[in-house]
Amino acid sequence: LAASALLLILAYLLGSIPTGYLAGRWLKGIDIREQGSGSTGATNVLRTLGKVPAVTVLIIDALKGAAAIALVRGVYGLETFRAITTDLSGMGTSLLPWMLTLAGLLAILGHSKPVWIGFKGGKSVATSLGVLLALSWQVGLATLGVFLGVLALSRIVSLSSILAAIAVGGWMYGFAQPLPYLLFAIAGGLYVIERHRGNIQRLMAGTEPRLGQKLPQEN
Ligand code: G3P
Repeated sequence: LAASALLLILAYLLGSIPTGYLAGRWLKGIDIREQGSGSTGATNVLRTLGKVPAVTVLIIDALKGAAAIALVRGVYGLETFRAITTDLSGMGTSLLPWMLTLAGLLAILGHSKPVWIGFKGGKSVATSLGVLLALSWQVGLATLGVFLGVLALSRIVSLSSILAAIAVGGWMYGFAQPLPYLLFAIAGGLYVIERHRGNIQRLMAGTEPRLGQKLPQEN
């Protein structure tokens, strides 16, 4: 049990690595949370620091989510760990999908509420994508497809993120994934949408900037 709790803490800590914030500090000596949308995510890095930092942050943030899942899977795959968890819970590896779900949720929570920088981070889109690709690559790719499709049509990242977050539950169901993964899709999707509250207001007001555009200083 203690080992499982430790794994979940590690999942949170992986998610909480403040990539976008560090990019701002290292490249321009700024706090990226005082720029643009105030988010530490790749979209705000793109508007504030440029393309190469944005793509780098995007990839690392997605890897954080995938790593949290890979970590839990890897440790649960170890014979010794399997023996311990079976003894303790009597449930053995049937716990695994639930642990993966919790680890995924904690990784995305870590990204948006990082302990290192006052719990003010990003919107967890890239990290969620990494978790999804690691849980089920089919669902990950299908969700990425929705995101890219909406982005190609609208050139608005937040709208693409929100519609992808809505679609992910449908894809989990459609690809007949285990119940815990479906719960990840619903809870994670709702969380990502909630993180976009400010964007939703701007979308409704027609003031949400398009890809790479600045936005009026507000926050
Ligand atoms: O990935 C976050 C994106 O959906 C919106 O980012 O900075 O425009 O609020 P931002």
